[in-house]
Amino acid sequence: MSTEYVLGNNAEELARLKLQHDLWKTELVRLWSLSKLGEAKDILDLGCGPGFTTLDLATYVKHACNITSVDISENFLNYLNLQSKNLGPGQKLVTHKSYIEQLQLPKKDFDVAFCRWLMIFVQDPPMAIRAIAQHLKPKAQFILQEYVTYDSMDLVPHSKMMKPIVDAIFKSWKDQGGDPNQGKQLPEWLEKNGFKILHLEPVAKFALPSDPLWQWPNSFYKSFLPRLEKNGYLTSEQVKNFFTEWDEAKNNPGTYFIAPTVINIIAEKK
Ligand SMILES: C[S@@+](CC[C@H](N)C(=O)[O-])C[C@H]1O[C@@H](n2cnc3c(N)ncnc32)[C@H](O)[C@@H]1O
Repeated sequence: MSTEYVLGNNAEELARLKLQHDLWKTELVRLWSLSKLGEAKDILDLGCGPGFTTLDLATYVKHACNITSVDISENFLNYLNLQSKNLGPGQKLVTHKSYIEQLQLPKKDFDVAFCRWLMIFVQDPPMAIRAIAQHLKPKAQFILQEYVTYDSMDLVPHSKMMKPIVDAIFKSWKDQGGDPNQGKQLPEWLEKNGFKILHLEPVAKFALPSDPLWQWPNSFYKSFLPRLEKNGYLTSEQVKNFFTEWDEAKNNPGTYFIAPTVINIIAEKK
């Protein structure tokens, strides 16, 4: 298995993840506020990437705590280690390079596990869920924010190019063993592998071209579509036509972007 996930782990992807994090932070903190994260002392941040979530977990918790952040990307973990000086008093960070499916930490009594936009890239989510369960205390919470109907992504009212783009994204993620719609099955997989679902909700968003959120799909297409072209999932003409349509859409009255729907889950270890 490659340690570079389908979107890459270079400086451009790191910058995209930062922008994405900033634009989605309100939703993240709102989900955390529904959980018992505020009382947690030992926290797992799974598929942490460069750790923007790790630093915010620490800020959210405020008190002394231990956070263990796990990812397959050494680049991202190195970046996070450099930021650990920004943690609060008594807050400690351990970074660990591993596939979630193969997670093996000496500590088995974490209070909370968290992941965002990880399970959609994981090859064997039930195996990952079992590995996570083994690291949690009974009644610990597992908080997830993932995609549920990624194909709800659209540019309306007049996009011809969005369908082939979404199809190519699905194909490339699936070829690496993930699935953008993996969130649909997560409640069942969690229930069958040691968890009870406490909370489920969708997060649906629209963006007008003038909204800050417009920059989220914009940065994703600008960084990922050239990769899809390079790897043969899209032709250069498809990419060119998409960007023509995307850039012109800003001037069309009534245009808006429909974001891929997210699923928020809070589960409890049985
Ligand atoms: C879209 S990024 C999300 C990063 C972070 N969770 C956030 O919300 O900003 C997905 C991350 O999952 C990591 N990843 C993908 N598959 C993984 C796996 N099987 N085990 C561990 N990490 C994985 C990637 O390296 C990447 O850092």
